[in-house]
Amino acid sequence: MTVTVIIGTQWGDEGKGKITDLLARDMDMIVRYQGGNNAGHTVVIKDETFKLHLIPSGVFYPNVVCVIGNGVVVDPAVLLQEINSLKQRGFALDNLRISAQAHVIFPYHRDLDAAQEQKNEAGRIGTTNRGIGPCYVDKFNRRGIRIGDLGNTELLRQRLAWNILEKSFQLNNFYNYPVNYDIDQLIADYTKMFNEFKHLVVDESTALINQAVNQNKRILMEGAQGTMLDVDHGTYPYVTSSSPIAGGACSGAGIGPQEIDEVIGVVKAYVTRVGGGPFPTEIIGGMGDQLREKGHEYGATTGRPRRCGWFDGVVMKHASKINGITQLAITKIDVLSQLEKIMVCTAYEYEGKTITDFPTDIYRLAKCRPIYEEWPGWNEDLSKVTKYQDLPVNTKKYLERLAELAEAKIALISVGAERGQIIKLI
Ligand code: IMP
Repeated sequence: MTVTVIIGTQWGDEGKGKITDLLARDMDMIVRYQGGNNAGHTVVIKDETFKLHLIPSGVFYPNVVCVIGNGVVVDPAVLLQEINSLKQRGFALDNLRISAQAHVIFPYHRDLDAAQEQKNEAGRIGTTNRGIGPCYVDKFNRRGIRIGDLGNTELLRQRLAWNILEKSFQLNNFYNYPVNYDIDQLIADYTKMFNEFKHLVVDESTALINQAVNQNKRILMEGAQGTMLDVDHGTYPYVTSSSPIAGGACSGAGIGPQEIDEVIGVVKAYVTRVGGGPFPTEIIGGMGDQLREKGHEYGATTGRPRRCGWFDGVVMKHASKINGITQLAITKIDVLSQLEKIMVCTAYEYEGKTITDFPTDIYRLAKCRPIYEEWPGWNEDLSKVTKYQDLPVNTKKYLERLAELAEAKIALISVGAERGQIIKLI
């Protein structure tokens, strides 16, 4: 096993950070391949909680090379804040590398994100307001500024001048969102920040990664967000602006698809979503509130309460297909203890018909009603279980049903936030 991709199978927040951290100790390299500081990974080590947004969770192991890949969008201020806070807590960070091809988030991206979200006609997506979407727009519109460009003041000035002109006009005149950017100040600020982390920047991140592939090193490609937030395969337009799916690793890190050996799908035992958009198995109030409190379901990035619902087998099947999942990591099963019954959605009812293929058109999706199976709960506390055979019978039945719907085998089951709270099956 050389290249493993780890992805979220739902709307993000499945607990990928903990699984990445767990796998990281056996890896030589971890590559983050898309997204930016819209993501939030919480890793608990002993009594310390670490919240990471950009830096891959593997950074806690000094021997693991951690790469922020070309497909990521980087807010340098957030990157520096993370670097400095980890350094203060004793991590040298000599193992971090940042691709010169990664795109840079500027204040006008954040302003555009906020302005768009305020304009009703644009349709509120409920973004994290970090400027992610507008930065990817510039990338694909070929006026983005990349990390490597920050070291070339002349080029930076030229690119910034055009961007500032365009964005100021758009914000001031179309969005009624008054802005006034000072190009000299921006150049000074971004150059200063770049100088603080430029020793970590690699010009050819794809060469670095492919060299590791050729040497049969163990590499973990870490996707942020989740399949249902994928710009192509999620609940468009209520999605993020990148490709969190396994295929995104090929473009976001620069490897060939045939190099991928395993795809681990991280599955939360129930489902959550932050922001707007369809969520067929959402539970409003009652049990939804109970799951939120018990599972501490508040956004790691924005602190927003997450919407909660039952496990959705249709979403799962969609994720299995799109990502080519070979193994499952099921998280937060402990949160479901003490429930009398647990519902599992196995199909949708759409205009009188039963369907199991996820409708990616949100108007068709809005007409879908989940069809549930009822499973008996269990009362036991699972937080100290380390062997599969020690799980209550009903927990095993529930997990086996999830695996059946996912058409993949379970490799890991997480029973708590701590590193040691894990059951390994493979
Ligand atoms: P953006 O990525 O900030 O543009 O937000 C687009 C949508 O993706 C919004 O619904 C966000 O709440 C959601 N989103 C972005 N990142 C994450 C994440 O890491 N976890 C969960 N939802 C996310």
